[in-house]
Amino acid sequence: MTRIRKAVLPVAGLGTRNLPAAKVTPKNLLNVFDRPILAHVVAEGRAAGIEHFVIVLGRGQGAIEDYFDHAVELEQALTDKGRGELLAALTGDLLAPGQMSFVRQMAPLGLGHAVWCARDIIGDEPFAVMLPDMLMDASPGALAQAIEAHDAVGGNIIVVEPAPEGETHKYGIVALGETAPGFRGRLRRMTGMVEKPPPGTEPSNLFISGRYILQSGVFEALAAHSRGAGGEIQLTDALRARLDQEMFHALAYEGRTFDCGDPLGLLRAGVAFGLKHPSQGAAVRAALTALLAG
Ligand code: G1P
Repeated sequence: MTRIRKAVLPVAGLGTRNLPAAKVTPKNLLNVFDRPILAHVVAEGRAAGIEHFVIVLGRGQGAIEDYFDHAVELEQALTDKGRGELLAALTGDLLAPGQMSFVRQMAPLGLGHAVWCARDIIGDEPFAVMLPDMLMDASPGALAQAIEAHDAVGGNIIVVEPAPEGETHKYGIVALGETAPGFRGRLRRMTGMVEKPPPGTEPSNLFISGRYILQSGVFEALAAHSRGAGGEIQLTDALRARLDQEMFHALAYEGRTFDCGDPLGLLRAGVAFGLKHPSQGAAVRAALTALLAG
């Protein structure tokens, strides 16, 4: 089975639900406890064996490139002050030179268009897509679980989970067929998918939650630039167009998802990651207990 080496992370987007916090800070640089959302997602990708990250940016998001580069003066100052631990935390998020590419989407035409912008860097090999608004707390990580499924059955793997009651119209929703052997019954053939179905028309309550393993053939479908839900070029539509030529499985991964695209999701993620922080978890628990006691 071809190894999954590259991941596309579309980060463009106004972050409307997180305004005004996301007014001058790119939405994926907002904080989840001790580091930006995006750093947590890149860490999940690295733990799954991803070697090259393609970050698809919008205008005004240059701070994301700076985050993943050396901050020479800051690093020197920490060295001079003997703050080795902090320095290690800072540089630990950096990849080796050449392992991260930045592509400008240039026009906000939708998720499918953002992924299509990465086509030349991905080339002709299967790859991962990680939606960085969705932070997934799992062990092994959500992407590692998807790659394990890909190693077993090949084709395309789409991570899904039950949508909150009454919210299927906000997401990509899948239709499922038979269960694949193994994976504790969590891997099923996919027979259909639809982006943001009107209430009452959804084929199931399972939504596409933000981790994908895709075959490069999707770029052919995306090249048509067909508009779908919301007038946008939708990744879900391009994948549906490949359903009769390629195999698709949906994986109900084991873990917790935080939608960091709104203030409550971001807060829940910050609390959850704070509570399990190796050195500060106990202090977070004590602070929360005190706050809740009023
Ligand atoms: C995108 C995808 C959708 C998926 C969702 C998960 O939608 O198009 O299929 O369910 O992310 O967050 P968006 O949130 O960009 O509207």
